[in-house]
Amino acid sequence: MKAHIAVAGLAGLCSLSGHAADPARINWDSVPKSQFTLFYPGQSTQEWMKSAAHKAGATGVNDGKNCLECHKDEEADLGKTIVSGKKLEPTPVAGKPGSVNVTVQAAYDKENVYLRASWPTHAKEAGVFHDYKVFKGGQWSTHSAGRTYKDVREGKAKVSYEDRFNVMVGDNKGTVAGFEAEGCWVTCHNSMRDTPNEPTKEQVKAHPVLGDAGMKKNDIRKYLAETRSAMDDRGGWDKVKDKAALDALMARGVFLDLWQARAYRSLPVGKADDSHVFQWRNFDKGKKPFDSNWDGDKKQPRFMFDPAKNSGRVALTEAQFRDPKAPRLDDGNSIPYDASKMKDGDLLPGFILNARQDGSAADLNASGKWEKGVWTMMIWRKLNTGQKDDVALAPGQTYPIGIAVHDDASTTRFHYVSMPLKLSLGKKDGHVNAVELK
Ligand code: HEC
Repeated sequence: MKAHIAVAGLAGLCSLSGHAADPARINWDSVPKSQFTLFYPGQSTQEWMKSAAHKAGATGVNDGKNCLECHKDEEADLGKTIVSGKKLEPTPVAGKPGSVNVTVQAAYDKENVYLRASWPTHAKEAGVFHDYKVFKGGQWSTHSAGRTYKDVREGKAKVSYEDRFNVMVGDNKGTVAGFEAEGCWVTCHNSMRDTPNEPTKEQVKAHPVLGDAGMKKNDIRKYLAETRSAMDDRGGWDKVKDKAALDALMARGVFLDLWQARAYRSLPVGKADDSHVFQWRNFDKGKKPFDSNWDGDKKQPRFMFDPAKNSGRVALTEAQFRDPKAPRLDDGNSIPYDASKMKDGDLLPGFILNARQDGSAADLNASGKWEKGVWTMMIWRKLNTGQKDDVALAPGQTYPIGIAVHDDASTTRFHYVSMPLKLSLGKKDGHVNAVELK
């Protein structure tokens, strides 16, 4: 993890000005700590939340009651029930804890906001690697991936997936309906990836807006009900509003900012992934910290290592799998893929890092350190980035947020989430109260 800190530190100093721009220089011991129990949500989508299956809760949610009015201090119990598979989880992961305790601190100055989070990991090592592909008999297949992917569950692939700390931020005018009371559940719907009523790849690819003719997606990620012309108890994945209607919503700020500090795909280049939830979970505009290294049409990687920069080799070996000393594939040590150079057993990462980013995708700085079983990650950014796909923050204001952690090689619904929370800048009415740096 030493490399992460060095890279992140440099990025911080280059891209920010002012005495407190580098959060490593903040005296975090003097910043108040808030503790949260993040719990395992399983398939508790917004549609489930509003259905009869949520009993008395559904009436409350439909009346605009905050989850915390009924569930204060119940997070660990909710998580325990769901992770066991008794409720809302058809495919439980053996041995997974139902919740995790996360400590959050926040600060701001005239220009920037700084968040710091730490939590104990379930795994005995840092989740600083992601998926790999392996070459065998002239073909590429999954070598390793997240714990809940089909190939891994069936024992055909190994486990390898990054840890993450995530924050979802809304504006303080209630522009996204329900976010203050229901938190991240306003983005989590039936018909999304790993939830009930999930469409097939072919169905998504055939969709005029989301599929091959439009956004070129093959699955459904988080989305807001506002972007659909109709929602029912199955969700509303295919009922995307027309472009004019979506443009009007975006112009009104009907989206949620999503910040993700990713231990493989963003921290090594000193960044967090800057996205926003709208009609899909979109990346912000510009060159982002990582890109996919997989060409789905040709079923082969897009890039391989430049042998001049990788001890004469175009790929990694099995012995380098999850080796902290093995290089990550990035835009500085790679060349376009050449099938003729591959040998049986060669490994290539599923993603390629970009040392340089630009546009709105480059707004979030981040660093991380895993020590003695505990992650500490920091994200910092301009209070107001001036970008249309970011929520602008200002001193003296309080904003609705949700936080999440992806732990132990898990993604999609297999993460831990917070109840709806608030972040205040300089006031004391939040669950996380950022202090002003003088
Ligand atoms: C008006 C009160 C109320 C509100 C508001 C409410 N719930 Fe519930 N919730 C309940 C009740 C009652 C149950 C059923 C508990 C039981 O059966 O033990 C429940 C059950 C659940 C469960 C299933 C776990 C279990 O043990 O049954 C989850 C998960 C849950 N609620 C999450 C939420 C979230 C997230 C929100 C906000 C979006 C929310 N609830 C809002 C009252 C509420």
